[in-house]
Amino acid sequence: MNKTRRLISEYFDKYTVTEIDKYIDLGGFSGLKKALKEGPDFVIDSIQKAELRGRGGAAFPCFKKWTSAKNRPEPVKYVLVNADEGEPGTFKDRDLLAKDPYRIIEGLIIAGYTTGAKEGYIYIREEYDDIRRQMNEAIALAKSRNFLGNNILGTDFSFSIKAYTGAGAYVCGENTALIESMHGNVGRPRVKTPRVGERGLFDKPTMVNNVETYACVAAIMNHGWEAYANQGLNGHKGTKMISLCGNIMRPGVYEVPFGITVKEIIEEIGGGTRDLSLGKFIQSGGASCALIPYTHFDTPYTYDDFKKKGFDIGSGSIVVANGNVRVVDYLSSVSGFFEHESCGKCTPCREGTKRMHEIIDDLCLNRASDQQVNRLFEIADSMMDSSLCGLGQTAPTATLSAFKHFKEEIMESVTK
Ligand SMILES: Cc1cc2nc3c(=O)[nH]c(=O)nc-3n(C[C@H](O)[C@H](O)[C@H](O)COP(=O)(O)O)c2cc1C
Ligand code: SF4
Repeated sequence: MNKTRRLISEYFDKYTVTEIDKYIDLGGFSGLKKALKEGPDFVIDSIQKAELRGRGGAAFPCFKKWTSAKNRPEPVKYVLVNADEGEPGTFKDRDLLAKDPYRIIEGLIIAGYTTGAKEGYIYIREEYDDIRRQMNEAIALAKSRNFLGNNILGTDFSFSIKAYTGAGAYVCGENTALIESMHGNVGRPRVKTPRVGERGLFDKPTMVNNVETYACVAAIMNHGWEAYANQGLNGHKGTKMISLCGNIMRPGVYEVPFGITVKEIIEEIGGGTRDLSLGKFIQSGGASCALIPYTHFDTPYTYDDFKKKGFDIGSGSIVVANGNVRVVDYLSSVSGFFEHESCGKCTPCREGTKRMHEIIDDLCLNRASDQQVNRLFEIADSMMDSSLCGLGQTAPTATLSAFKHFKEEIMESVTK
């Protein structure tokens, strides 16, 4: 049985950016037409019934964010697509933008209509220059067909979209750093509150969602929330785009039903690992998330089942490690990433990421002491308690989870 789904990804490889008519013939923009006909409350009710959560990592219930954006009294507000996609092992937004650009545009127009925003922005990872050019082409074509511009499809709703180049740093995927960089400032997180929903782009309320979140909204409006929800397994609603990589036979972007197990994803979709085993562990959700040992591979891929065990769906990345991967080497690469990407604004993260990386590298060389391991935990505690943004707060997660599940192996690297 084919374990993948084609709802969010149903138009992949079926048209190119110049072929807007093909997108329309496939059923594209019918979600927007339904939204314009039924009204903003219908949109919010649909995403609530679909139980859609934000796909950028934090899994915040989408209908709550859209409701508070809609209820903001300010006459000027913005909606924004976070296409910064800097999380290691994550590349599903790239496919969504490259293979179905009009669906993202459609989702963003629906967001503008629902919340009362007249302008939308797509903040695109700097390295995705080809995608930005393609999005500009798609925006121009959508405008020529009156899906954008004044009085869209004969209604009194007007809306425009601009594509924006990201600042080239992982931390700029964090909402406040993203907005700072759009203002031309250094892309560093700022103290919250105010949150960007209150004071964001150009100091106006700004609703930020991930690329996939907008794609899901367009699909839910097009097919109806029941059709979306029915894609899930064992009573779980909907699907998730995942990027599967690492020691896996068939790496790639897949749409999977919620409720599928990790084992099924690895074996049946990914074809198993490169050493033909089931794998030693995965890191699901991004560098800031826990390692999942093979003993938990029977866990259903759902937000609730993962949360119960301290795991994360996060960005939808699944990095697979086979039996040849030493846990400490993997942690070295994760902690090196955070040391490199820390913006340096606050001390716990600036110093903590560096010290964690140093100690983990000593473990890799079998020369770390018990004292250093204790220090690692102290540093992790202070980073989680007192870092300014999500980067520093979650940077120790992988290491702490590794000590939970692979303590014996790690302690073999400690000097006696
Ligand atoms: C360090 C850091 C990097 C982030 N990078 C991204 C990113 O690349 N893309 C993304 O959608 N969200 C990213 N986020 C999460 C966003 O801040 C935000 O929660 C998300 O875009 C909201 O959209 P959603 O509700 O659709 O998930 C990042 C958060 C942090 C702390
Ligand atoms: S936690 Fe790290 S990335 Fe976030 S503001 Fe502090 S130094 Fe910068």
